[in-house]
Amino acid sequence: MKISIIGAGYVGLVSGACFAELGWKVTCFDNDETRIDQMRQGVSPIFEPGLDDLLARHGASGHLSFQCGADAALASADLIFIAVGTPMSDDGKADLFQVIDAITQIVPHLSGYTVIVLKSTVPIGTNDKVEAMIRSLRPDADFDVCSNPEFLREGSAVQDFMQPDRILIGSNSQRATEMLRQLYRPLEMRDVPIMTVSRISAELAKYAANTFLAMKISFINEISDLSEKAGANVSEVAMAIGKDHRIGEKFLHPGPGYGGSCFPKDVSALIFQAREFNSPVTLVEQVQKINIARKLAMVARIVDAVGGELEGKTIGILGVTFKPNTDDMRDAASLTILPSLIEKGAKVMAYDPIGMRNARHMLPRVNWMSGPQDVFNDADCVAVLTEWGEFNALDLIEARGLMRGDALVDLRNVFTHERAREAGLRYYPIGTQPSHG
Ligand code: UGA
Repeated sequence: MKISIIGAGYVGLVSGACFAELGWKVTCFDNDETRIDQMRQGVSPIFEPGLDDLLARHGASGHLSFQCGADAALASADLIFIAVGTPMSDDGKADLFQVIDAITQIVPHLSGYTVIVLKSTVPIGTNDKVEAMIRSLRPDADFDVCSNPEFLREGSAVQDFMQPDRILIGSNSQRATEMLRQLYRPLEMRDVPIMTVSRISAELAKYAANTFLAMKISFINEISDLSEKAGANVSEVAMAIGKDHRIGEKFLHPGPGYGGSCFPKDVSALIFQAREFNSPVTLVEQVQKINIARKLAMVARIVDAVGGELEGKTIGILGVTFKPNTDDMRDAASLTILPSLIEKGAKVMAYDPIGMRNARHMLPRVNWMSGPQDVFNDADCVAVLTEWGEFNALDLIEARGLMRGDALVDLRNVFTHERAREAGLRYYPIGTQPSHG
C-alpha cells in the first residue's frame, strides 16, 4: 500500500515518518517549499525528539519522500491522510478552510479505490461533509472517507505513535477498515488495541479525550489552591487519588494552566459544537474558565512574592514554552504571564532551552538570557513556568548569590522546600504552603 499525507506539520510529519518506520512507502505533501527542502535534507522543521533520526533514515532508504503541493503523484496512493491544521476561529469553533483546501487539491488526482483518512481534529460531522464534497466534485471516484484521530503529545510524539494506548478508526466501510487495519498491523502485533467505531463517535472521542484531560488539569489546579489554603500537599493528594485505577495517576500535575495547540482549541471547539447541538457541556465550560483565570492568578502569585508591587522589580523567568521538550509557544502560559508582569512595571529576564527562537517575536519586551543561571542576575524573584529537566540541575545556592531578592516562585514544582531553604530562598511552590527561607 502507498500512503500520501497532506500537510507535513506536527501530526502529518510525525505520522509520515512513523508509517515509514513501520515499513510503508510514504509521501508527504506540503505547500511550504522551505519546509519541504529542509525535510528532504533530513532536517525536521519542528523540535521533536527522535524525528530527525527517522527523517534521515527513511529519507535515505526512499521510504519517506516529500513533495511541494499536491500533484499527480497522489494518483498512486491507496490511502491519503489529511493532516492539516484546524485552527480556532474568532468565535471559538474549528476553522476547516485547510481541510477543504486539501480535499480540493486531491480530488482531481483520485484514481482507483482510495481511502481518504481525516487525521486532523475535525468537528462532528466533518467526515460526512467531506464525503459529500468529494462525491459532488468527482461522482466517478471510487473512495471511502475514514476518521483516524491522533493522540500524540508534543515532545513524545514519536513514542506515542509507536506505542499508543489505542488506535481509533472511525469508518462506515468494511473495505476501508480492512486497509487501515493492515496499515496498523505491525502495531497490532505488538498488542496495541485497534478500535473501530462510527465516524461520528471517532470525531467526538477525539474532542472528549482532550477535554477530559484538560478537565483533570483544571480539577487538580483547584485542588492545589485548596491544598495551599488548608495546609495539605497537592502531590500527596494527587498520588493518593491517582492510585485508584478509576481515576489514574496521569495528568494530575498542577501548574500555571494548560496550553499548547490542542487543549485550549479543542475545549473551545467542543463547547461551541455542544451549544450548536443544543446540548451544552457546562462542565467543560467551567474547565475553560478555570484555565483562563489560572494564568492571571499566577501573575498575582509573583506580585505577592515581591511584596505586592512590581514597579522597578526584576523578575527572572525559567521556561516559556507550553511544556518541556518542545519549541512550541502556542497558548503557552508565558504569553499571558510575561506581558502582564511587564505591564505592571517589572523588568523580565527569561531563558528557555529551545523555545526562545519562537518566543522572541511573541514576547518582544522580554530580555532573553543565554543560560538559566543568568535569569537570577539582580532578580528580585525568579519564577519557573516550564519544567525543563536542566532547571532541576541548577545550583540554587550559587543562583541565590546572584539575586537581589530572595523569592523563588515554582509554578511546576521543579524544586523542593529543602533545596530552597538550603539556598536561603523564600519558596512559593504550587499546592503546598510557601516556606520563608
Ligand atoms: C495533547 C494530548 O495530550 C494528546 O493526547 C493529543 O493528541 C494532543 O493534545 C493533540 O490533540 O494533538 P499536547 O498538547 O502535546 O498533547 O500536550 P500535553 O502533554 O497534553 O500537555 C498540554 C498542557 O497541559 C501543557 O501545557 C502541560 O503543561 C499541561 N499539563 C499536562 C499540566 O498542567 N498538568 C498535567 O498533569 C499534564
